[in-house]
Amino acid sequence: MAAIQNGSVVAVIGSGAMGSGIAQVAASAGHIVKLYDTRPEAVAKAIADIGAVYRKLADKQKMSAADADAATARLKSASSLGDVADAALVVEAIVENLDVKRSLFADLEGVVSDDCILATNTSSISVTAIAARLRRPQRLVGMHFFNPVPLMALVEVISGLATDSTVAQTVYDTAAGWGKNPVHAKSTPGFIVNRVARPYYAEGLRLLNEQAADPATIDAVLREAGGFRMGPFELMDLIGHDVNYSVTQSVFNAYYNDPRFTPSVIQQELVNAGFLGRKSGRGFYAYGEGAVAQQP
Ligand code: NAI
Repeated sequence: MAAIQNGSVVAVIGSGAMGSGIAQVAASAGHIVKLYDTRPEAVAKAIADIGAVYRKLADKQKMSAADADAATARLKSASSLGDVADAALVVEAIVENLDVKRSLFADLEGVVSDDCILATNTSSISVTAIAARLRRPQRLVGMHFFNPVPLMALVEVISGLATDSTVAQTVYDTAAGWGKNPVHAKSTPGFIVNRVARPYYAEGLRLLNEQAADPATIDAVLREAGGFRMGPFELMDLIGHDVNYSVTQSVFNAYYNDPRFTPSVIQQELVNAGFLGRKSGRGFYAYGEGAVAQQP
């Protein structure tokens, strides 16, 4: 099996931060992209935002105006799951919850053709478990992008125990065709990046808990002296605390409550408050006009 063919339909389920980024990259690569979300306003926003990005790229002459218009025209809104029946590849980027993802893929199996590949952008949940109740679990694979998707080259292609190796290779080749740097990995909790990154967040949160320094100081140290592109707090604000907290819980549970992965009460409280980071305008920092630095 080669990469998913240029021009074929790619469906993206979930039009939040990740889904809209994945849709942008797939449409740029020449696919017709169908976006579905339980909140239709999220789809409308994603299509409008991606169109604006393409126009900006055209203004900066990084893309021709004709290509920008053509890529925008390839973005289609799906009003129900039934609308994605002709997809060659479905990429799921919905809430980080095993039961919700399983239920979505069960519904998708009733809609798409037998040779359609089902991919999940889960950050941490077992791909084996997501696939387990499908009629054809061999066609489900992890396709794990990083935020912001158009800028981040890495894609982890995750095989569960049942994943067919040709399915994983097709997704790998597709990601490479989209200009990404894919890597194969087996399904382990948090895969590669989210496993290694957990202690980065956890130690930052422990430092904060012990009042060693404030988030801005810790971020600056890691960024300016440590050589990291972002400090742990600004990175958690970018990822979204709801997503990041769910990922920590999932890795912690999967590793039999290994204390190294213990979730933080500070982050739990941010989630309780709805201070989800950039996407809600407030997390460890405040965002938007007139924002002042916030401390949880
Ligand atoms: P988000 O909260 O920005 O967007 C999720 C979208 O899914 C929302 O628009 C929501 O309405 C929709 N949704 C929820 N349940 C749905 C359902 N049953 N059917 C259709 N749509 C549904 O979340 P984000 O950040 O885009 O994350 C999505 C997935 O990507 C999660 O699994 C997350 O772990 C993963 N991920 C997130 C990264 C990040 O940095 N935020 C990085 C890599 C992966």
